[in-house]
Amino acid sequence: MATNKTFTMIKPDAVDAGNIGAITKMIEEAGFIIKAMKLTKLSSERAGEFYEVHKERPFYNDLCAYMSSGAIVPMILEKENAVEDFRTLIGATNPQDAAEGTIRNLFAKSIEANAIHGSDSDENASIEGSFFFAGTEMF
Ligand code: CMP
Repeated sequence: MATNKTFTMIKPDAVDAGNIGAITKMIEEAGFIIKAMKLTKLSSERAGEFYEVHKERPFYNDLCAYMSSGAIVPMILEKENAVEDFRTLIGATNPQDAAEGTIRNLFAKSIEANAIHGSDSDENASIEGSFFFAGTEMF
């Protein structure tokens, strides 16, 4: 059953570039309500846990090192059809393929430093949201 929620995090490249404000503005203007948000940093162990599904991929170690290299901004977002609409807003994983005007088209630097994450299913949105916000009050 669709939950109307998705999970995102602004990645270290976009935080370091000072793009938290510009990206959250785009998210809110696209009709998403921010239900939870924080500025935090992952240890490489926690990054490894978060990306466990990619463990066998060749880019896994680099991805974990990169995602624990700086601050990130995880968020839980709410909107009808949240997972799909958010993936449209952020654009393709590789910024070279991201449609014009999408967050990755505007802010991503590479396929790894691609500015932002968006959950790919309701189930993963719930798992990933709980990873950062279990027990957090939602407004
Ligand atoms: P995301 O979809 O948020 O989560 C998995 C991440 O792995 C993805 O973003 C990319 O940042 C990163 N990644 C690095 N290299 C690759 C690759 N070759 N293919 C797909 N994802 C990659």
